[in-house]
Amino acid sequence: MGFFNWSAPAIKRYGERWTVEDTQQIAGWLGPFVPGDGHVLDLGGGAGGLARRLAETLPAHVTVLDPTPELIAHVEPSDQLAAVLGSAEAMPFEDDAFDAVIVTDAFHHFRDLDASVREMARVVRPGGAVLILELDKAHIMIRLIAIAERIVGEPAAFFTPKGLCAYMAERAIKGECERLVGASYRFTGVVQKSWPAA
Ligand SMILES: C[S@@+](CC[C@H](N)C(=O)[O-])C[C@H]1O[C@@H](n2cnc3c(N)ncnc32)[C@H](O)[C@@H]1O
Repeated sequence: MGFFNWSAPAIKRYGERWTVEDTQQIAGWLGPFVPGDGHVLDLGGGAGGLARRLAETLPAHVTVLDPTPELIAHVEPSDQLAAVLGSAEAMPFEDDAFDAVIVTDAFHHFRDLDASVREMARVVRPGGAVLILELDKAHIMIRLIAIAERIVGEPAAFFTPKGLCAYMAERAIKGECERLVGASYRFTGVVQKSWPAA
């Protein structure tokens, strides 16, 4: 049993942390890329706490993709909200299915980042957005969190904001990083449909 299977009750509670202001801010970042009736993927979206709020606030159709059955089971499907069991590395979606993908506090948990980014670029339409909220690995607290996560078997693949921007740009998702409060930052990139030759 993996870390998220046994910690699911705590992760579900953590997924309800988003305030109205947080949700409006995130909707504002995604809004320019998501037309009315648009489609957003919450990748590694857990029990759907943010997806539910975003579906109402944008408004948009939001799909949660997560590999943890104990989390995804809590997403209550509706006209605007869908839940799919699966992983970032092999997404069960058509090409160009989404206007945007959001990843909050999950990117550093993905086992194969290259495959995950390649899949993000595939399932988001050209000109669509990739919004990643992450934690700066240069911050002392994040170094300690990384040690703890590795002890429980997680990859803890944290980046600095500059490092994540460079990593994504090399994979045809050019964007910008903005520091938020504390160690948090956001990467907002735009999908272009060309992956550098292997
Ligand atoms: C710390 S939780 C964050 C959940 C939610 N995004 C939030 O901000 O509250 C990390 C999430 O990443 C998911 N996850 C782990 N590995 C994943 C993978 N390979 N592909 C997609 N999601 C993954 C976990 O199941 C978990 O729901």
